[in-house]
Amino acid sequence: MKFIDLFCGLGGFRLAFEKYGKCVFSSDIDKSVSKVYFKNFHEDPLNDITIHDEKLIPKFDILCAGFPCQAFSIAGHRKGFKDTRGTLFFDIERILRHHRPKAFILENVKGLKSHDQGRTLDIILNKLSKKINGKENKNKFKDCLDYNVFYKVLNSRDFGLPQNRERIFIVGFRKSNINFSFDHTPVNVSLNNYLNKDINKSLKIKSNVESQISLHLNKRKDYKKIKNLKNLLAYEVRKSRCSFRFDNLSPTLTAKMGTGGNNVPILVQQKRKLSVRECMRLQGFPDSYIIDQKSESYKQVGNSVPVPIVKFLAKKIIEKV
Ligand SMILES: C[S@@+](CC[C@H](N)C(=O)[O-])C[C@H]1O[C@@H](n2cnc3c(N)ncnc32)[C@H](O)[C@@H]1O
Repeated sequence: MKFIDLFCGLGGFRLAFEKYGKCVFSSDIDKSVSKVYFKNFHEDPLNDITIHDEKLIPKFDILCAGFPCQAFSIAGHRKGFKDTRGTLFFDIERILRHHRPKAFILENVKGLKSHDQGRTLDIILNKLSKKINGKENKNKFKDCLDYNVFYKVLNSRDFGLPQNRERIFIVGFRKSNINFSFDHTPVNVSLNNYLNKDINKSLKIKSNVESQISLHLNKRKDYKKIKNLKNLLAYEVRKSRCSFRFDNLSPTLTAKMGTGGNNVPILVQQKRKLSVRECMRLQGFPDSYIIDQKSESYKQVGNSVPVPIVKFLAKKIIEKV
């Protein structure tokens, strides 16, 4: 089995699919993440997929892509909501059209479902599928790729990770007589086992951040109940607002974490931020994965896909193709 890793980032898809086959092509436009990918997979993915000729991609069986979400509304208004050009999904579409792989797996934020009042997801599905979740797609476009497509929002908290992270997964098969199910038995874990005991001093929060957190905590009606919780987490700490998580789960790690210390979740009792390594664990990356300890590392891990979800889906996809 051969697969390709588009918009590869840190290679979350690759970690899951390598058990079943070989990665024959990878792509990411970001220099810094490409360096980290190279250190781990000995392959430089640095390229802009929008200008990469699909004919130059070697033959493969499965396409993996955690693609950035963009609206189709501007192109759509002109083309009657049937055109994907000008968006990165178009590049997935043209590669699928040329290579016709046996299957694909796409990942995006949960908000893709409601993006542009649902039009963005509709356009994607109408381009991809003749069947959606087992039912004939009556709205498919004339130039539809005719895949048998299944999609569902999954949460990493149900896949053995202590992080609340909802993502939409879209899986497609060339064969039409396949039935695919996302059913799974939830495996829930607590944050405790994912945290380091020895803490680097640089993770300690500044006193102004500490006071901002205290201020917001004091305002809460349930203050007494939550203030002494061992793993009380604060995030999006601002003067005007601050969110808390007190269920032994981390909030969704986001790419915003790279753009300022205040966006990295904070363990309130320990008065410190989560480390990059801890965040990597919360996405299911093994400790053997080589990371840079730079501020972009937070962004990279916040952008990544939860590896255990991909592992679960990879196994199921391989069984079907
Ligand atoms: C949501 S992240 C995917 C992360 C990946 N799934 C992982 O496990 O880390 C999207 C990635 O697409 C990359 N990207 C954006 N535009 C691109 C382009 N034109 N060509 C190639 N990669 C691009 C970004 O640099 C980013 O790393």
